[in-house]
Amino acid sequence: MSTDPLFAEFTVKDQTLDNRVGLAPMTRTSATDDGLATDQMAQYYASFARGGFSFLVTEGIHPDTTHSQGYANQPGLATDEQAAAWEPVVEAVHEAGSPIFAQLMHAGAQAQGNRHGYDTVAPSTYRPPGEQSELYGGSGPFPEARSLDSGELNDVREAFVAAAKRAVDAGFDGIEVHAANGYLLHEFVDPLVNDRDDEYGGSPANRARFPAEVTAAINDATPAAFVVGVRTSQAAVVDEERVWPDGETTANALFGALSDAGADYIHVTGGDATAPEVPETDQTLAELAVEYSAETVAVIANGGLGEPPKARTALEDGADLLTLGTSALANHDWPNRVEAGESLADLDPSIVFEPDASLSDAEVPGDD
Ligand SMILES: Cc1cc2nc3c(=O)[nH]c(=O)nc-3n(C[C@H](O)[C@H](O)[C@H](O)COP(=O)(O)O)c2cc1C
Repeated sequence: MSTDPLFAEFTVKDQTLDNRVGLAPMTRTSATDDGLATDQMAQYYASFARGGFSFLVTEGIHPDTTHSQGYANQPGLATDEQAAAWEPVVEAVHEAGSPIFAQLMHAGAQAQGNRHGYDTVAPSTYRPPGEQSELYGGSGPFPEARSLDSGELNDVREAFVAAAKRAVDAGFDGIEVHAANGYLLHEFVDPLVNDRDDEYGGSPANRARFPAEVTAAINDATPAAFVVGVRTSQAAVVDEERVWPDGETTANALFGALSDAGADYIHVTGGDATAPEVPETDQTLAELAVEYSAETVAVIANGGLGEPPKARTALEDGADLLTLGTSALANHDWPNRVEAGESLADLDPSIVFEPDASLSDAEVPGDD
């Protein structure tokens, strides 16, 4: 039996994971125009399970047919038809031996390519800096997003819950609430975006309230064995340098509120998961998540962990699990290779990112 900490078993709720290495959520803009998952996506996801990833988190999935869609050809869980389209993906991953969690993402002010034609929304009036992402098929500046009123917050919460129930119906083992990377739920946490004067703005506890409410509502509405995780970050897609100005205070309020909401795991992401990137503390984001969340909450570290020694450091620093993004794209079998002592491939951007982040046939293995 391996003594490598990367290959120790771990349990999340009823899921026994073979090792500590999961697939990070990655948008691939490869669904149909109607947001239906495809056979190509099933092959793509199953290849990571075959390659030894002990759990998979899907790309961000939009939960409603109004404001939430983030990108053209992003898959949805906003309709029963979209849920049904996920079933072959989930089955293929299960056959290959791993659980799969659906990442539910409301794009907020960073939405681009929303085919439903709605305006963009945020906690407060806000225009994201910079230009829309060409990697995901966008161009030009972002429009100014308008602020959501309290009635609309109920609609957003209910849409997340309905999408989570559809994820249950589609056979997913859990969902991940996307509260990171500058999308809507992160915009509530971020004081540079959120200047509300109601109970959802102001103090760190108030700014954590809406993501925690969404998490709690999903937890209440889904079966006991269904995993409910949350992803958080300091940085946004539109601002990779962004941090929580009051660092540890926000970490304390946010991780505490997500624990109280019943999160099974907290997935933290940053540029380097082994570096202290939070102002006014020398702890990593994962260490803060361990410190301020309940003992029952698993902590997943992500960011820059593609070299096995770095990945082991993240576990030694206290994370229970880790996820890989770009290095998984370069090595769909990263865990199997590392366990066998084989070398790892570098990412070929011409296959994965050119002309955009959509799946290329060269990247998706067929049936074995
Ligand atoms: C092509 C691509 C798409 C991504 N899409 C998402 C997404 O849908 N949801 C999300 O939370 N993070 C997304 N991310 C961020 C990754 O999950 C991860 O945090 C990032 O790549 C850093 O991890 P790494 O250093 O292992 O690559 C994406 C990253 C890439 C490269």
